[in-house]
Amino acid sequence: MTGIMKQTDTKSIVLGITGGIAAYKAAELVRLLIKQGMEVQVAMTEAACHFISATTMQALSGKPVLTSQWDENENGMAHINLSRQADAIVIAPATADFIAKLAHGMADDLLSAMCLARDCPLLVAPAMNRQMWERAATQRNISLLKADGVGILGPDSGLQACGEEGMGRMLEAAELALGIASCLHPKQMQGVKVLMTAGPTYEPIDAVRGITNRSSGKMGYAVAQAALNLGAEVTLVSGPVALQPPAGATVVRIETAQQMFDAVQARASDCDIFIGVAAVADYRVAHASAQKIKKDGQGMTLELVPNPDILAYVASLPKPPFCVGFAAESENLRDYAERKRRAKKLPLLAANLAQEAIGSEHNQLILFDEAGEHPLPRSGKQQQAQALLQHIIKLRG
Ligand code: C5P
Repeated sequence: MTGIMKQTDTKSIVLGITGGIAAYKAAELVRLLIKQGMEVQVAMTEAACHFISATTMQALSGKPVLTSQWDENENGMAHINLSRQADAIVIAPATADFIAKLAHGMADDLLSAMCLARDCPLLVAPAMNRQMWERAATQRNISLLKADGVGILGPDSGLQACGEEGMGRMLEAAELALGIASCLHPKQMQGVKVLMTAGPTYEPIDAVRGITNRSSGKMGYAVAQAALNLGAEVTLVSGPVALQPPAGATVVRIETAQQMFDAVQARASDCDIFIGVAAVADYRVAHASAQKIKKDGQGMTLELVPNPDILAYVASLPKPPFCVGFAAESENLRDYAERKRRAKKLPLLAANLAQEAIGSEHNQLILFDEAGEHPLPRSGKQQQAQALLQHIIKLRG
């Protein structure tokens, strides 16, 4: 046999770039996908070429870029040939206009024709101004794509090129690269039952006041979403947060640490993996008042009693699931985290600096296991969650 044999696990991606300012992020995306061992064929719409040059994309991908359906070398069949070879087509950035075309099966240029003629999964990374994103027409088109089985990556919220702030920013290249990788290996956690906690707890002092913390639940919800993406069955025991629960998860809403403990205790024997992401209050008020406490101008002392340690309880069950802890520290991160992992008898603990993680969209976890520590590069919480789950999968064999 002559020629270079293609490794069977090498994934071929068609990266479609449409005409938005986020096209510059596609350059970094190509680099990251190739670093993950993928082959990337870039196809650009005419509008995309106004934002980033085909020469740049050709240099990064190592392949001629497709821009026209009238290329003589392809015999007019690029849309069929390429879709047969690809493991996935990824559109990043996907403009509102291109999303509308996809939703309605239009095929008036090479890229839309390739999407229509494809034989592989299609992933779309929307990128547009927030009002274009919020417009009913766009939301309708996104619903149509979802119903057709198209994967939607993002968008994110934040500062936009137009100077406005809101939903519609394309995910960062690193987040997209991980999202693409997990879509290409979707069944890694099929049949695996994941029980997890997320968010803060709320410990009442009286009828209207309580003790809580600044956990937003974003990290825990990202872990739940990432596990769902990999095919896991997810039960999420969540403290009070302002987040939309990930579709497909069984959500148990609680307020206090004791309620979280009860909910976990009832389910701990029926799970394969337990992940404690919640920022559980260590103490509760010994005698919470059923009525609002009236001030009397004097000082006041609250008696606090310790809450049960939910994670330590699960990890010490006779047949514990694979237990993963989180540690948010404000100093001595490495030292405290590894001590905590050993004290709670955990095979894996993810540590982060509280001041950098709590409430933030981003995070930088350091994973501690028996082999040592594994720092992750700083990125969005979804990407951190995906990397954490890949580590769990590796440790569980
Ligand atoms: O001891 P510390 O609170 O720092 O440990 C953090 C880890 O333990 C997190 O995974 C958290 O969800 C879990 N935890 C718990 N129950 C508690 C306190 C912490 O499950 N009462």
